[in-house]
Amino acid sequence: MSNNLTQKPEWKTLKKLSQDIKKTHLNDLFQHDKKRFETFSITLNGLFFDYSKQRITSDILDNLISLAQSCNVEQKRDNMFDGAEINITEKRSVLHTALRRPKSKPLIINNQNVTEDVHKTLQRMKSLSEDVRAGKYLGATGQTITQIVSIGIGGSDFGPHLVCKALENDSKNLEIYFVSNIDAHDITKALNQCNPETTLFVIISKSFQTQDTIANANTAKEWMIKNLPDQSDIGKHFIAVSANKISATQFGIQEDNFFPIWDWVNGRFSLWSAVGLPICFKLGFDVFEALLNGAYKIDQHFCDAPLKENIPVLMALIGIWNRNFLGAQTHAILPYSQNLFFLPAYIRQLDMESNGKTIDIDGNKIDDYQTGPVIFGEAGTNGQHSFYQHLHQGSDLIASDFIGIIHHKHQLDAHHHLLLSHMLSQSQALMQGKQDSDDPHRYFNGNKPSSTLLLNRLDAYHLGMLIALYEHKIFVQGVIWNINSFDQFGVELGKELSQKIENNDLTGADNSTRGLFSLIHKSKKEG
Ligand code: F6P
Repeated sequence: MSNNLTQKPEWKTLKKLSQDIKKTHLNDLFQHDKKRFETFSITLNGLFFDYSKQRITSDILDNLISLAQSCNVEQKRDNMFDGAEINITEKRSVLHTALRRPKSKPLIINNQNVTEDVHKTLQRMKSLSEDVRAGKYLGATGQTITQIVSIGIGGSDFGPHLVCKALENDSKNLEIYFVSNIDAHDITKALNQCNPETTLFVIISKSFQTQDTIANANTAKEWMIKNLPDQSDIGKHFIAVSANKISATQFGIQEDNFFPIWDWVNGRFSLWSAVGLPICFKLGFDVFEALLNGAYKIDQHFCDAPLKENIPVLMALIGIWNRNFLGAQTHAILPYSQNLFFLPAYIRQLDMESNGKTIDIDGNKIDDYQTGPVIFGEAGTNGQHSFYQHLHQGSDLIASDFIGIIHHKHQLDAHHHLLLSHMLSQSQALMQGKQDSDDPHRYFNGNKPSSTLLLNRLDAYHLGMLIALYEHKIFVQGVIWNINSFDQFGVELGKELSQKIENNDLTGADNSTRGLFSLIHKSKKEG
C-alpha cells in the first residue's frame, strides 16, 4: 500500500462524480451551459487554453482543486522553486526554473548565488555563438564554421532538436545536424554532409558517460583526426556541455569550450541550460533568450495564479481525472504545425521518463492507482491518416491535446486555413460524435475528451511558454501521485545488461535472449 491518496475524501468524492459523468455526454453539458466555453478556458500572454471539451463540471473541477490542495501542491511547488532537495532518491534540488530566472533575482543555494552562475554561462553562450555566427570563431585551418553537429541523446538532444526544427528559418548560413542514435547510420549520415575544416561538434551529455553519445563523439573525433589537414588545433572543433568536466577534459575538450550543467538540472528539463547551445548557434542568442523569457512567464504564472486559473495545474488535474477516474491510459499530443512535428517525442520523454513509475517517494509500491499515461502523437493532418480511426472508434479512451498556431509565417494562407479547419473539426468530431446513422459502422459515440492550446504565433517566446506548461503539469501530477518525477532508474537495468552482452557474457540470460544472440552471431559469421 502506498500513501493514502485513494483514501482521501476528495478522491472518494471524485470517484462518485466519475460514475455520474460516465452517464453524461459532453453534448449535454454544452447544451445545458451556453457559457461552457467561456467558463472552461483561459488566456495568458498570447496563449489560449480551452478545456471545455473535457468531461468535467464545476463540481468536478472544485474537487480536483481540493485534491491538489490536500496533496500540498502549492507548498511543494514553492519548495522546488526555492531549491529544496525534492529529488530525494538522488539527493538533489530540482532547479530548471533557475535557468530562466532574470539576473536581478538572486537565488542563494548553499551560500552560492545560482542566478549569477547561470547568467555567467549565458554570457559565455552569447559570446561564443555570436562569434561563430559572425564568422569570427575559426577552425584549426583558419576557416569559419558553417556546420554544427550536435551529439547527445534523450534530454541532451530532444530540447535543442525540437526548438531548432520548430523555429527554423530559411537561412542556410549555418547547417545543423543532430546525432543521437548509437546506430552508425546517424553519425555517418551527418559526417557525409560535413567538411572537417568548417565543422563544430557540440557534445552534450550531462554525465559524459552515456555510451551512445560517447561512441558517436569518438567516431567524430576519429573522423576529424583522419580528415583535418592541420591537427594542431583540433580542439577548436569540439565544444562540450556536461556536469562531468573531468571526462570532458579527458576527451580533449579545451577549457574555453567547456560549458557546465549543474547537478540540479535534470536531463529532460535541461533545454534551458547550455544544452541549448545548438539553438544559439543555429537561430541566435536572442531567440534563446526569448525562449527563456516565455518559460519564465509560465513560471510566474504557475507560482502566482490561483489554482483554479493556473493553466499547468489545470492541465495536470484534467490529466489525473482522465487517467485515474475515466480510465484513459493514453494521452495524445497533436500539434497542428509541421514545425512542431518533434513535440510529441519531446513531451513523451518529459512525461514518461518522469512519471512512468510504480514506487512512491517513500519506497512503497503503488497498487491502488495508476500513474503517468502513455504519450504518443503526430503533427497536423498526418496523424489523422494514421491513428485517428482509433481515437474516434477504438475501444480505448484516449485524451488529446490539440495545439494550433493562429498567425503563421508562410505565404500560403489557404493551407493554414485548411490546417486549422482540420484541427477544429477533429476535436469537434471527437466531442460531438455522430449518432444519427443507421449503419453501426458509421456510428461515432463522441464524448472523447480533448483540450486545445492556441498560440498566437510560433515564436521562441510562445514555444518557451508551451514547453514550460508541460514541465509544470508533469510536476503537479508527480506530486499528486506521490512519486519522484526527477529520477529515472528504470533506464538503468537495460544499460547494465547491455554491458554484459557486449562482452559476450550471457550468464543469467534466458533462453530467448541466448537464442537470439546465437542467431545474430551465427548469421554474421555466415555473411
Ligand atoms: O535515458 C536516460 C538518460 O539519463 C536521460 O534521462 C538523459 O536525458 C539521457 O539519458 C542522456 O543522458 P546524458 O545527458 O547524461 O548523456
